Amino acid sequence: MKKIVLFAGYMHVGYLSAGLLLFPAGRMQAIDIEYLILIRKIMMKLDKNSRIAILGAGNIGLSIARGILRSGKFSSGNITLTRRRSHLLSEIKESGVMIHSDNKKAVEASELVIISVEPQQMNGLLREIQPVLDAGRHTVISIVTGVRLSQIAQIIGDKIPVIRAMPNIAISVGESMTCLAGKGLSDETMDMATRLFDMSGSTLVINEEEMIAATAIGACGVAFFLRAIRAASQGGIEIGLQSSHALRIATQAARGAASLLLAAGSHPEQEIDRVTTPKGCTIAGLNLMEYEGFSSAMIKGIALSAEKAASLYKTGND
Ligand SMILES: NC(=O)c1ccc[n+]([C@@H]2O[C@H](COP(=O)([O-])OP(=O)(O)OC[C@H]3O[C@@H](n4cnc5c(N)ncnc54)[C@H](OP(=O)(O)O)[C@@H]3O)[C@@H](O)[C@H]2O)c1
Repeated sequence: MKKIVLFAGYMHVGYLSAGLLLFPAGRMQAIDIEYLILIRKIMMKLDKNSRIAILGAGNIGLSIARGILRSGKFSSGNITLTRRRSHLLSEIKESGVMIHSDNKKAVEASELVIISVEPQQMNGLLREIQPVLDAGRHTVISIVTGVRLSQIAQIIGDKIPVIRAMPNIAISVGESMTCLAGKGLSDETMDMATRLFDMSGSTLVINEEEMIAATAIGACGVAFFLRAIRAASQGGIEIGLQSSHALRIATQAARGAASLLLAAGSHPEQEIDRVTTPKGCTIAGLNLMEYEGFSSAMIKGIALSAEKAASLYKTGND
């Protein structure tokens, strides 16, 4: 048996999982735990052969799919997207991904299961796929806001490795900030999830307790910064720029500000100090914005978003 499992280690992960299903449960129990760990390590290899299901391909699910395809690291034929109205996915179908509305089939055809439905749809979906989830094969990544790992385990059991992930829609262009949290997972499992999201931006492993705050800044935050860019471009139009020029200048200025922080690892005030000449135009504008409540509005908005994110999922929802 050990030789068979070791030999299987050189096989494609899909064949390996199919092979494991052939062994009767009694004989499976005889395999040493170290060989099961070996199997999971093989499963967690991320390459062209990795099979990924995205259940609930709406705004963020589709963005994740686009990010995965954009990375060029995966074969589109190994990616399955579901939603109940699967005809609405016809555009991305052209890239070669599998599309349907059968979540169970999608899970059975995959090792990595990404769930991106609305919080109120989570319980029903988990109950639906629970019978086909296999602890030896699957890893679940939940993108769903406010659903705790323990609440997921209550439905699918505590044997399936589950990671909570909070990316943002910039994942479709390889620029997501994705926060990950897990409990009691092997290093390999978290490493695999980190590598997956690193392909489409930046990744940070945090405590689950920080997930709501990370949602407000990292996921909702995209909208806050977009609104700031819109406001800047409206200001530009008011002082004489054509709308397209104003938006282009504001967008690149925002990108430049973010790039400065990322490149230097500096604090915003350090960079602001370099722009604000004494008695100059920048400090005059900045101070008026602060007087009008710029920082305060952003902080209060983030706090309210976090409050709302924490209350989106209620136990017992279908
Ligand atoms: N949007 C973001 O930027 C973002 C970022 C991070 C996290 N999130 C979180 O991600 C989740 C999804 O957000 P979203 O904005 O992408 O919402 P969304 O656009 O409404 O997407 C949810 C998708 O799930 C599908 N769905 C619902 N029930 C299903 C089921 N039983 N089986 C398969 N598919 C099902 C829906 O399509 P059908 O009605 O056709 O089934 C819909 O396309 C939420 O929990 C949200 O908080 C969102």
